[in-house]
Amino acid sequence: MQEILRSYGGLRDCINSTGAGKILCVHGRSFEKFTELQHVLDGLSIIHFTGFTPNPKIEDAEEAVRMCADCDCILAVGGGSAIDTAKYAKMKSPGIPLIAVPTTAGSGSEATRFAVLYEDGRKLSITDDSIIPDYVMFDPGLLKYLPEYHRKSSALDAMSHALESFWSVNATPESRRYSRSALSEITRMLDAYPASYDPARMLEASYTAGKAINISQTTAGHAMCYKITGIFGTAHGHSAAMCNRVLFRWLCENSGLPALDDIAGAMGCESKLEAAGKFAGIFSRLDMEIPKATDADIEALAGSVNPERLKNFPVRLSEAQIVELYREILDTKE
Ligand SMILES: [Fe+2]
Repeated sequence: MQEILRSYGGLRDCINSTGAGKILCVHGRSFEKFTELQHVLDGLSIIHFTGFTPNPKIEDAEEAVRMCADCDCILAVGGGSAIDTAKYAKMKSPGIPLIAVPTTAGSGSEATRFAVLYEDGRKLSITDDSIIPDYVMFDPGLLKYLPEYHRKSSALDAMSHALESFWSVNATPESRRYSRSALSEITRMLDAYPASYDPARMLEASYTAGKAINISQTTAGHAMCYKITGIFGTAHGHSAAMCNRVLFRWLCENSGLPALDDIAGAMGCESKLEAAGKFAGIFSRLDMEIPKATDADIEALAGSVNPERLKNFPVRLSEAQIVELYREILDTKE
């Protein structure tokens, strides 16, 4: 059972309780700014691992596994990439406790049994119950170091998790409770962004959306977004929302899925089409760009889609529909 920590005193006690003599700390460059967190680690034997990139590579994660060999605790401080790299190290070092300290509010990785890594540019989705972090530490103060673009992209990632989980074929009453709560909270915070953005509430909401996808998995939005990030370098949440702003309306027009009405209710809308419009409106109000794509890009994108994740989408999509959808997503429709 995962335990949530909300104070540095609690984190210190937690580390002490694991009896860790040596800790592998997986983190990015912002770590030097997290002084309060660093004080907690004073006097402990820490091995720092920073050798990973935004779309973490499997060979880098293997290096983390090697560095983990004589450690007895892993501390992951960062966004999805740091946490996923640490999750891989945990999978390869059975029994070792993992403490996740998210510094973005969006990936939800601290709540899930999934890790996304890349091998030769190909996405590997790792799913294993053993990699769910044992402890999660929430400090909303860490979010102030996040650049504006990443704050918005992360929030859109969390909103995409809540949406996709809601309409996933694997949704359960429990996952819907999580996605409903996350979706209404995130909609409120993004509808009047930045005035309404509250880091503490966004951390909780993105964690709740993570709990939802941990049960239901993500769907077409995520299956279709990875290659957009690969080609255009847009942040993951930006790419996922770019897809979902089209997929949401497409589902409203092409399915009578009852979940769409529940989604509208969670978003404070009268109808599903109004809710789809609200999602698209949030995307444009946050000033998220749509990259310029060529026909060759559309072809590469359509050929890249992960059929596994598409299976979770409530409507079966043909290859021709995927091409059409990508044209709409990237605004290349004549
Ligand atoms: Fe995501």
